[in-house]
Amino acid sequence: MGVRVEVHLSKVTRAARALRPYVRTCSAAAGRSRYARDMFRSVILAAARSSRVARLVETAPISRDVVRRFVAGPTSGDALRATRELVGRGLAVTLDYLGEDTLTTDQAEHTKAEYLALLANLSAAGLTPAAEVSVKLSALGQRFDEKLAEANAREICAAAAAASTTVTLDMEDHTTTDSTLEMLSRLRCDFPTTGAVLQAYLRRTEADCRELAKEGQRVRLCKGAYKEPESVAFQSKIDVDKSYVRCMNILMSGHGYPMLATHDPRLVAIGEDRAKWFDRESDQFEFQMLYGIRPDEQARLAESYTMRVYVPYGDAWYGYLMRRLAERPANLAFFARSMSSKK
Ligand code: FDA
Repeated sequence: MGVRVEVHLSKVTRAARALRPYVRTCSAAAGRSRYARDMFRSVILAAARSSRVARLVETAPISRDVVRRFVAGPTSGDALRATRELVGRGLAVTLDYLGEDTLTTDQAEHTKAEYLALLANLSAAGLTPAAEVSVKLSALGQRFDEKLAEANAREICAAAAAASTTVTLDMEDHTTTDSTLEMLSRLRCDFPTTGAVLQAYLRRTEADCRELAKEGQRVRLCKGAYKEPESVAFQSKIDVDKSYVRCMNILMSGHGYPMLATHDPRLVAIGEDRAKWFDRESDQFEFQMLYGIRPDEQARLAESYTMRVYVPYGDAWYGYLMRRLAERPANLAFFARSMSSKK
């Protein structure tokens, strides 16, 4: 049980070697300019898609600390432990069972069963409604059978309602946005608190915010974590940040329940400011951050607002970890150090 920590030197060496070109390019690129930062992100997201790198990194005896910094652990017991600890410190939680791009009905069934058991356990442990769940439709079969994914999501929403909590549908790459928003609107007919995620880097998102800034709508606003083409997404950080502020203005001045998901100090400050401008009480919106990122800031925000921590768990941590590395050069340095040192 637990993340593997045995030492297989040959595998470490091979994994470190496979990552070396990415690390070297990224170290050179990181922080020098906007173009360098964009290149850094593209290179790491390319590494994330490389099945060779995936195989090597997944099977390398990476330090438990590296994965555990961003992931609660491989089992639902780990997820419950992390949730109990966070809720005990006054934070709210959303749990994500890691897994995406499910390719078979059996995998989709497995993911659904995991969420159903998790929700029952959260309820039995008295951790709902402080804890809700975040679900990727691709993990429920969206890529090969949309009807199956929706039926699975519906069962999870029903289990969440029975456990006095709710579900937020994560948003994945832009090819799934329409399908996800359509499923959301159908699910919301029966489970009105089901939450949406909108990504500020997409050019369409201001319009989607206008559509969803309505009574009862829970909308998580994030920057967006996938590599998207210029035709659909802003490419530079400054354009994404400006879009985030425009979208935040729409949501915070609207009638729904905005969930501001960002670690960006400027955007958090603007969020606090907008709450004052638009007379939002502290229970009429929330901040959200990822597990392991800016924990001190999470604690500070929890003193005044609902601060929800997104807690991923499960064995399939690779894609998730790579997206976190792509966001921040310092994360990659931490990762590379831990691969070349030992547990
Ligand atoms: P960004 O990465 O631009 O960082 C801005 C600043 O934040 C940095 O300059 C630094 O000051 C600070 N910062 C960032 N990371 C830090 C760290 N490790 N330590 C210290 N400071 C740090 N994406 C998606 O496409 N679909 C989804 O469904 C979701 N869901 C989701 C839920 C939640 C709760 C969160 C917080 C995020 C997501 N995301 C997501 C991911 C999101 O799109 C985005 O990729 C990350 O949140 C990173 O963007 P930031 O807004 O944090 O800014």
